Amino acid sequence: MPIRAWFSTFIYSEPLQPAGLARLNEDLAEECHRIRDYDSAGRRWSAKNYLGGFTSYASMAQLHRSSSTFATLEKRITTHVRRFARRLDLDLRGRQIFMTDCWVNIMPERAAHSLHLHPLSFISGTYYVRTPPGCSGLKFEDPRLDRFMAAPPRRTAASPANRQFVVYPAEAGKVILFESWLRHEVAANPTAHERISVSFNYSWS
Ligand code: NI
Repeated sequence: MPIRAWFSTFIYSEPLQPAGLARLNEDLAEECHRIRDYDSAGRRWSAKNYLGGFTSYASMAQLHRSSSTFATLEKRITTHVRRFARRLDLDLRGRQIFMTDCWVNIMPERAAHSLHLHPLSFISGTYYVRTPPGCSGLKFEDPRLDRFMAAPPRRTAASPANRQFVVYPAEAGKVILFESWLRHEVAANPTAHERISVSFNYSWS
């Protein structure tokens, strides 16, 4: 082949574990609601910055250090992050990877999360706790989008590697991992039911 792909962007998506997800997700959902009820600073922050929903991003973002349920989740997610880091050929120089932040997102009907990236980390991701049928997925954009200048648009039927956007469906029990610089967003929840997820950041040292 005269043409090869370079500078690829990888996104990882796998079930957290082979079995026992329903029970874990029930426990997590209950705990997420308890956190929302308890975290008044988070509710105030969300009222300004996360319209219609709740996130503990700015108030309780080390849940893996204070809750055994979240600590269990951290342990399982770390296995996936190690696998992803190997696939990315990252040379960790003998250092360890570790979760720095872990927070809850509760999105009722119409709550949305606009385009953003995750500073101060190298791998980020989300674990889905509750995903009503038809709820919004996680939309990623081509990180080179601001450099396309006068390029023509891509065909609707462009091959996966040539697409400029991709939406990963939100599925309870699944972990999605990406490099922290990759911009993403969640469209408004069109369903009448809450979509619950846990997001996290990883660093290495
Ligand atoms: Ni995010």
